[in-house]
Amino acid sequence: MIKNKKLLIAGNWKMNGFKKNLSVISLLIKYIKLKKLKSSEILICPPNTLIDSFSNLAKRSKLLIGAQDCSENETGAFTGEVSPSMLKDSGAQAVILGHSERREYQEESNKLIHAKAKNSLKNDLLTIVCVGESLIQKKNQNTLRVIGEQLKKSLPDKINPNNLVIAYEPIWAIGSGLIPDNADIYKVHSFISNKLNSRYGNKSKKIKILYGGSVNKKNALSILSIKYVDGALVGGASLKFSDFKAILDFCN
Ligand code: 13P
Repeated sequence: MIKNKKLLIAGNWKMNGFKKNLSVISLLIKYIKLKKLKSSEILICPPNTLIDSFSNLAKRSKLLIGAQDCSENETGAFTGEVSPSMLKDSGAQAVILGHSERREYQEESNKLIHAKAKNSLKNDLLTIVCVGESLIQKKNQNTLRVIGEQLKKSLPDKINPNNLVIAYEPIWAIGSGLIPDNADIYKVHSFISNKLNSRYGNKSKKIKILYGGSVNKKNALSILSIKYVDGALVGGASLKFSDFKAILDFCN
């Protein structure tokens, strides 16, 4: 059990899940109620098609529901896009932005992520901005330089620190079963914390920094215990109730 930390454990379902997966959410809601969480927060970000039904189920519980992306625009002729206010309308309270899969497959730039983050913060969504290096960047010892640049260019100047979260997700650790060693996670998280401090001053203390990439029930306790790690962004292990619950068991 991790004490003295207000953890945020977020599940990124990616493009997984159908209405038939409603039972996972019901089990999660029951678990959260029984566990009587004191300070930790739990968030599930399903595909947009499930936000409305999941948030209806989670209405009277402490479980937060969020999205995996949003538009940088408010409304209008933007086919296929969904704005932060529309996400809120369907019950979302949070959004993940700049995930490496979107940076790669949708070719999202830091500039675009910056505009999206500005829009979601303006709409009071809990905004999780992802950063992380590729394997080649790591091998070339460019990790901190890459992350410094992503932070500088993806984050807006005007922020509400209560609504901004950074997720450090080394690309090579996502879905691979590989994770950096604890010393490397500490190094990157303290670097992010310093960068946030020099940009936002005192406000930055409220910004949570999550680790993501192959978090599971076996490694969660050790990762969550590292200084400057304020939670986890969990992919695969958030899809099955028993796997996710085993991680949540460490929360207070
Ligand atoms: P995995 O936990 O499946 O490695 O995914 C991490 C991730 O991409 C969360 O956003």
